[in-house]
Parts: sequence; structure tokens; C-alpha cells
Amino acid sequence: MVWTLFLRYVVTLASTFLVLGDPDSAQLDGAPPSKIAIIGAGIGGTATAHFLRQHFGPEVRIDVFEKGAVGGRLATVTVNHQDYEAGGSIIHSLNLHMQDFVKQLGLKYRKSVAGKTAVFNGEEFILEETDWYLLDLFRLWWRYGISFIRLQMWVEEIMEKFMRIYKYQAHGYAFSSVEELLHSLGGTGFCNMTRRSLTESLLELGVSQRFIEEVIAPIMRVNYGQNISIPAFVGAVSLAGAQANIWAVEGGNKLVCSGLLKLAKANLMKARVTTVSLHTAGESNLYQLDFTSPTEKGTEFYEIVVVATPLETGVEPGISFHNFEPPLPEITGSYHQTVASIVHGYLNCSYFGFPDPKLFPFTSVLTTDSPGLFFNSAASICPVNISTGFRRKQPQEAGIYKVFSQRPLVKEDLKILFKSYYSVQVTNWQAYPHYGSMQGLPPVILHDHLYYLNSIEWAASAMEMSSVAAKNIALLAYHRWNRQLEMIDQKDLMHKIKTEL
Ligand SMILES: Cc1cc2nc3c(=O)[nH]c(=O)nc-3n(C[C@H](O)[C@H](O)[C@H](O)COP(=O)(O)OP(=O)(O)OC[C@H]3O[C@@H](n4cnc5c(N)ncnc54)[C@H](O)[C@@H]3O)c2cc1C
Ligand SMILES: *[C@@H]1O[C@H](CO)[C@@H](O)[C@H](O)[C@H]1NC(C)=O
Ligand SMILES: *[C@@H]1O[C@H](CO)[C@@H](O)[C@H](O)[C@H]1NC(C)=O
Ligand SMILES: *[C@@H]1O[C@H](CO)[C@@H](O)[C@H](O)[C@H]1NC(C)=O
Ligand SMILES: *[C@@H]1O[C@H](CO)[C@@H](O)[C@H](O)[C@H]1NC(C)=O
Repeated sequence: MVWTLFLRYVVTLASTFLVLGDPDSAQLDGAPPSKIAIIGAGIGGTATAHFLRQHFGPEVRIDVFEKGAVGGRLATVTVNHQDYEAGGSIIHSLNLHMQDFVKQLGLKYRKSVAGKTAVFNGEEFILEETDWYLLDLFRLWWRYGISFIRLQMWVEEIMEKFMRIYKYQAHGYAFSSVEELLHSLGGTGFCNMTRRSLTESLLELGVSQRFIEEVIAPIMRVNYGQNISIPAFVGAVSLAGAQANIWAVEGGNKLVCSGLLKLAKANLMKARVTTVSLHTAGESNLYQLDFTSPTEKGTEFYEIVVVATPLETGVEPGISFHNFEPPLPEITGSYHQTVASIVHGYLNCSYFGFPDPKLFPFTSVLTTDSPGLFFNSAASICPVNISTGFRRKQPQEAGIYKVFSQRPLVKEDLKILFKSYYSVQVTNWQAYPHYGSMQGLPPVILHDHLYYLNSIEWAASAMEMSSVAAKNIALLAYHRWNRQLEMIDQKDLMHKIKTEL
């Protein structure tokens, strides 16, 4: 596929216009666009391809550019003939788009294998999960008073409001910005939650400082590698993910991405897009994409383009935008580095205060935000394919552990955490926004028919958030193409949807 496109590189701009016809008249007589490009084949880009196909029908050509591997931040590494998730790993049971994809693609759920979690402060465990859920509840109650119940109610209320998005999207409503989307779900309260810190919101709620430091901070560290100063909205998403009822995809979460590409009948273009330039022909616009692969360079023209990869500085190498007048809004902010080290070896249980590894009862160790701690979390992990009869390795056996840290682990770090090890595989992620660098939510509409999916990550970064943004952009692109502006940014949707029935 890519090769035929490279041959067409010689095609001049003029003849490209001839091939496409006059896009403006096409738009006015209701004809669909003929070519759409998506930059990035992670869950966001592949879900966008799927939803665009649903809305624009079978004729439009959809090209998905990917410079690396399909899946993006959903990726696996192989240890001892088994694959393990190195990036995005857990999915909440109420993530309805992800659930729908798995169903449509005929993929299977991988339930998490039971295991106990504990919180380590660098010297000792300050919080331990026991076998018995009720006992845990009493223990938390005793230690933190009312905090725990208040927190649970807060997260539930936010989730309930967030779930409205599925209804709005099923009725075809789209939003022109992340603010509009959040506002329709939870009013100014939701928008404010992207600016206020999690600590501030929780303290106001009456959650104790101690609970925040000992329970909330470790959850933020494992999920987003950041502290409790992150915004309340992403904090709530992170807490929802810490509840029960989580799952993953059998065979690896990235199978959803390759599956969606096929389902959408999209063309995978294995190349890196370097430049997006605007070409104005009469009243209408075309976007020129320049791209390179290790061996070739190419150019193609599109009527609609969706950028489905972070544009923030530091996520290198970036895409440059040419000929836009006025210039496109600048995307500021940076991404947070999280290093995932998958270690095959023997955990050093002594370090955690258990000289006899047979007595070490935990599978996941979270950590508090204490100075000197060089890792965010360490957990025994399961392969992406779990056969019947699978059991976790005991701490006295060699096992597979995933360690998250902010900086790459050096030999000395590994020697503290592990008695000995056979292998270490390191993935250095530009993982999610560095929320402390936020200067407002980036735009979704960059130009008439040029969209930015990853702006949603500044509200919260998760597979489901990218999927929600994908559906929104497909609807938005469709309505804007067909000038159905009444389907965009409608107010009072709760009421409207009730009366539409
Ligand atoms: C360590 C880690 C743990 C996480 N854990 C979870 C979790 O448990 N649950 C959860 O829901 N989420 C989790 N997340 C977040 C989740 O993985 C991301 O929010 C989600 O995968 C983002 O998908 P995306 O498609 O928007 O972006 P990406 O997956 O980043 O996709 C962008 C793609 O674009 C490609 N690309 C970039 N530039 C170009 C270019 N110029 N030309 C062509 N292609 C380009 C990239 O190679 C990449 O494949 C985690 C993330 C990390 C890093
Ligand atoms: C959100 O913030 C604005 C401005 O600070 C305020 O007027 C509004 O009442 C807040 N909304 C909620 C629900 O707290
Ligand atoms: C959280 O981290 C940021 C840097 O990302 C730092 O500026 C801030 O002081 C930290 N807050 C706390 C409460 O530790
Ligand atoms: C893992 O699971 C996937 C999805 O069910 C399947 O396609 C694949 O063949 C499995 N791989 C192994 C090694 O069992
Ligand atoms: C394991 O932890 C203990 C206690 O912190 C430490 O003395 C030892 O050096 C660590 N490493 C190994 C390889 O045992």
C-alpha cells in the first residue's frame, strides 16, 4: 500500500485537485469527503478510524499513519515466551466503548488474577490489604474515619455523571472542545475539576490529610506517576481505576487497535508524518501531509485530518504545521516520563521487611510520596494470555515484576529491589500529560477540518478517554462536514434526550 503511494509522490498538486474534484461543491451537495487521514494508530487513532467509517460510509478512503507499532502506548514486551503489558494495562468495567470494541472484534476478556496490595513508605508497609473485604473496610474505617466512605461517594457521583457521555454520543451529539464536553456532563463543577488540585477538592470534601497521603497519593503514583497536586478530574478517574471490576484484553490490549483498523477497512501507512500544510483552492481547503519512512518520502492530500498523537513539546519528533493563517493555536505543556521496567527475577523481600520470602503476602507494592523512594510501584504481573490453571509465582520463585519509576533504574536500584534477576526490559514512556505544566485545555478543532484528539488527555489520560474523544471527533467532523451545526454544543442535553424518545 505504502509503495503505490510513494509512486504517486510525483503527482503534482494540480492533478491532485483534479482527482478529488472540487471539494466545496461536494460538500454543498451532500457528498462525503473522498479522503481522510488520521495521524497515529494508538487506541485514539484506530477508534477514530472505526467511528469515521460508521458515519461517513464505505466509500471514503481512510489512511492511518503510524511511525512505530500499531497500539502506541498499548504495547507488550516478551519475556520467556510470554507477553506482558508494558503500557496501558487496566480497563474499568464501566468503560463502555472499550467493552464494545472487544465485543465487536470477538476478543476475550482477561480477568485479573487475585492478589494483595500494600503501601510501602520506604521503611515499612503502612497499609496492607487482607483477604477479607469487610475486615479491610473496618480497618480503613478505624484508621481514617469517615474519609473512606466520603471518597467512595464522591467517585461514584463523578462516574455517574461521566456515563452521560454514552447517551449523548448514541444520540449523535458532538462537542467542539473538551470544556464543552465536560460542561455537558457535569456543568462548571467538571470544568473546575480540571483546574483545582485533587488535594484541595478532597480536603474540602472532608477527607483527612492522612488518608490523602497514605491511600490517595500511592494510587496517583502508580496510575499517573505524579503527586496529589494533579487536577481533581484526572484524580477521580485514577481512583475509579483503583476500584474492583477491572479487566484487560486476552492476548494484549493492543489487539483492539489492530482489530479496529481492520474493522474500519482503513489503510495503514507505515510512515511518520512530518508536516501538515494548508492548501486553499478557491473556497475550499485541502491538507497536504508530508511523510517519511526509513526508505522513502511521500505526500498526500486530504479533506479531513485527525491528529491522534500528542502535539505537546518534548514528545519528539513533532509534526510541523505550515501555511495556516492565522497560525494554529500553540499547544503548550509537556508529558510526564514514566519508565516501565519488566524484570524477571527474585524479589528482595528483605528490603520490604520480610527476610523469609515464603511469608511475603503481597503481589503489588504501592509507595507513598516519600523522598528517597526511587520507584512508584512494583508488582508481580500476569502474562496477557492466561491459560486455565494459571497461578502466580510465589515470592520465593523467580517471577515477572513490573516496576514503574520516574527515572530509569540503575544497577544499584535493581540490586535493592531484587535478590537477583535474569533480565530487565525497559520502556521509557512519554506516558501522560505532566499535569503541573497545564495551561488550559488544548483545542479539539485546530482548523476547519483539522482535529486534535489528544487534547482530552489534559482532562484525563486513559484508553477510554481516547475512545470517547474518538467518537466525539468522528461526530464533530461529520456534522461540520454536513453543516449540521445543531448537533454540536447543544445545551441541556439531559432534558433534550428525554423528550427525543
Ligand atoms: C505506563 C503507562 C500505563 C498506563 N496505564 C493505563 C491503564 O492502566 N489504563 C488506561 O486506561 N490507560 C493507561 N495509560 C494511558 C493510555 O495508555 C493512553 O491514554 C492511551 O493509550 C493513549 O492512546 P492514544 O491513541 O491517544 O495515543 P498513543 O497510544 O500515544 O498513539 C499515538 C500513536 O501515534 C504515533 N505517532 C506519533 N507521531 C507520529 C507521526 N508524526 N506520524 C505517524 N505516527 C505518529 C505513535 O507512534 C503512536 O503509536 C497508561 C499509559 C502508560 C504510558
Ligand atoms: C466553578 O468555578 C466558577 C468560577 O470560579 C464558579 O463561579 C462556579 O460556581 C464553580 N462551579 C462549581 C460547581 O463549583
Ligand atoms: C507535586 O509535584 C510538583 C512537580 O510536579 C511539585 O511542584 C509540587 O510541589 C508537588 N506537590 C507536593 C504536595 O508534593
Ligand atoms: C493469546 O490470546 C490471543 C487472543 O485470544 C490469541 O489470538 C493468541 O493466539 C494467544 N496466544 C497464545 C500464545 O496463546
Ligand atoms: C536486599 O535488601 C536488604 C535489606 O534492605 C539489603 O541489605 C540487601 O543489600 C538487598 N539486596 C540483596 C541482593 O539482597
